[in-house]
Amino acid sequence: MTQNTNRHRHAFDWSGKTVLVTGGASFIGSHIVDRLIERGARRVRVVDDLSSGTVANIQGHLDSGAVELLEANLLEPGVTDDACRGVDHVFHLAAIHGGRGYVEMHDAECGRNLVIDGLMIKSAIDAGVEKFIFASSGCVYPNYIQQDISKELYLTEDMVGPPYDSDHLYGWAKLMGELSLQAFHRDRGFKSVSCRLFTVYGERGVENHAVIAMIARAFIGQDPFEVWGDGTQIRNWTYVGDIADGMLAAAESDVVDGTPINLGTMERTRVIDAVHEVLRYTGKQAEIKFLRDMPTGPLNRVAGNKLAKDLLDWSPKMKFIDGLHRTIDWYFATKDPDVVRGYFGRMLTERGETKEPAGTAKRS
Ligand SMILES: NC(=O)c1ccc[n+]([C@@H]2O[C@H](COP(=O)([O-])OP(=O)(O)OC[C@H]3O[C@@H](n4cnc5c(N)ncnc54)[C@H](O)[C@@H]3O)[C@@H](O)[C@H]2O)c1
Repeated sequence: MTQNTNRHRHAFDWSGKTVLVTGGASFIGSHIVDRLIERGARRVRVVDDLSSGTVANIQGHLDSGAVELLEANLLEPGVTDDACRGVDHVFHLAAIHGGRGYVEMHDAECGRNLVIDGLMIKSAIDAGVEKFIFASSGCVYPNYIQQDISKELYLTEDMVGPPYDSDHLYGWAKLMGELSLQAFHRDRGFKSVSCRLFTVYGERGVENHAVIAMIARAFIGQDPFEVWGDGTQIRNWTYVGDIADGMLAAAESDVVDGTPINLGTMERTRVIDAVHEVLRYTGKQAEIKFLRDMPTGPLNRVAGNKLAKDLLDWSPKMKFIDGLHRTIDWYFATKDPDVVRGYFGRMLTERGETKEPAGTAKRS
C-alpha cells in the first residue's frame, strides 16, 4: 500500500495526454469525459458498446470534435488493443453492470467483467499506457461485516482481505481487477490506482439504481410507492460530480501501485429517509409498500474516506440533501412520465431500457 501522503498535489498538465475512457458513454464515464475536456486533455477517446451507456451523454463533445467514439464490444477480439493504441492514461469504467436487481439476478453476465478487465489490463500494458485508473466498487467489501444496522460502521480499505466475501460475482470481478493491478505493479511496474466507488447518483443516472428509482416512482406517481426491503438499509449515496473529481485526483496523484481508495461520502442515509425526502420535495403523497422479498444488498454500507483525503486531498463536497434536490430537478426537467412508465419495470432488474447485455444476442 502507498504510505506517503499527497496533500500538496501539484497542478497536473493534461494538455499533452491522450486519454481513453472505457464505458465513457455511461452515467459516470460521461462525467469523467466532461472533466477531461474541461482540463484540456489533448485527445479523449471513448470506447463503448452502448449496451447501457448512451451517445446522448457525450453528444456535445462528439459534435465539437473533442471526443472520438469507438463503438465496439471490448469482449470482441482485438478491440481492447485498438482502444489502447497510442493512449497515455486509461480510465476503465466499462463493465457489465446494473443496479441491485441486476447484480443479484445476473451473476453469469457480471462474471464476464473478469474477461473485460483482464483484456483491458493486458492491452494497456502492451500499449505502454502510463497509468490505469480502475473503477472498482464498494461491492468488493465482505458482505458479512455489513449486515448490522445498529453499528456505526465505516468501511476502510484494509477491511478487504481474507476471508474475502465480495458482493456477488460483480464484486468478485472488481476485486480480481484490483488484485491483478497490484500484482502487475509488483511484477512489471505497471502503474495504476483503483477507485472504490460507492453508490453513485446524480444527473444522467438511470433508474436501475435506488436514488433514481425513487425519483422515478415519484415522477410517475406510483401509489403505493414501492420500497425494496424494509427501508432500514443504510447507504452513503455519493454525488457523481464528487466521484468524477475523485477519479481525476486519483489519476493525477502519486499513487501508482494499484492501491485501492474509497471514493464515497461518510454521510449515512437510510433508504426510508431518502424516500420520505423524495416525496416531500416533489410534493407527492403515496402509501409506502415494503417489498421485503426483493434484493436489498448489504444492510449497512458506508465508506470511510480518510485515505482519499490523505492520498488524493479529496473529500466529497456535495451534501446528500442538496445533491438529491439537484438530481430531482434534473430528472423532472428532462423526462416524460409516459416514456418512463414504459420502461421503468424492466430497468429494475435489467441493464437498460431495451438493450440486451453485451454478447448475449440470441441466435435465431
Ligand atoms: N453506479 C454506481 O453506483 C457504481 C458504483 C460502483 C462502481 N461503479 C462502476 O462504475 C462504472 C460505470 O458505471 P455507471 O453506473 O456509470 O453505468 P454503466 O454500468 O452503464 O456503465 C458501464 C458502461 O460500460 C459499457 N459497456 C459495458 N459492457 C461493455 C463492453 N463489453 N464493451 C464496451 N463497453 C461496454 C456500457 O455501455 C456503459 O456505458 C462501472 O465500471 C461500474 O461497475 C458504478
